[in-house]
Amino acid sequence: MKVAIFASGTGSNFEAIADHAGLKSAGLEIVQLVCDQPSAPVIVKAQDREIPVTVLRPKQFASRQVYEQAIVDQLAPLAVDYILLAGYMRIITPVLLKAYPQRIINIHPALLPAFPGIHSIEEAYQAQVTETGVTIHYIDEGVDSGPIIAQAVVPLRAGESLVALETRIHATEHQLYPEVIQTLIKSNSKEHSSR
Ligand code: GAR
Repeated sequence: MKVAIFASGTGSNFEAIADHAGLKSAGLEIVQLVCDQPSAPVIVKAQDREIPVTVLRPKQFASRQVYEQAIVDQLAPLAVDYILLAGYMRIITPVLLKAYPQRIINIHPALLPAFPGIHSIEEAYQAQVTETGVTIHYIDEGVDSGPIIAQAVVPLRAGESLVALETRIHATEHQLYPEVIQTLIKSNSKEHSSR
């Protein structure tokens, strides 16, 4: 299965997926990293692994739609099966959604629909919820909305610091994303063999 990963920042989820793709048995190939932030650390992580990187700055395009069309054009020859968002901090427009219907997946550090947005771990911590977690879902035009594929619960521990909770949420993400990808690979190969 061929995927493009979209990311904007640190790239720890990118690394987890790339490590998984490194296993021969996985049947996963990351054909492109798409990044919207020229100084994002994820770029070096991809270069170190010799994964092709495309950096496109949305500001240099006339609109969000034109920006996404440039991405669609770049990806077209690569026969990408899925786009995996891994800390990609932009709302996806119908341009990408139409090009990859039901083929764009996101990871979010909360139990959606609770705590969408960009400060989810902190918001759940401040709200003193008893549990939070990680969600993997298909993308639609909303912010962190769209059909849920999988969730993992992370219970809060008494007296735990925000940093400790963040560390446990990220560790959960790094486990759950490869697991979900592996399930997709299995169902994709069944789809192909029944054609
Ligand atoms: C991850 O925690 C991911 O779930 C979150 O950004 C972080 C990126 O970390 N995404 C969102 O909040 C999307 N709304 P990473 O760059 O180390 O993978």
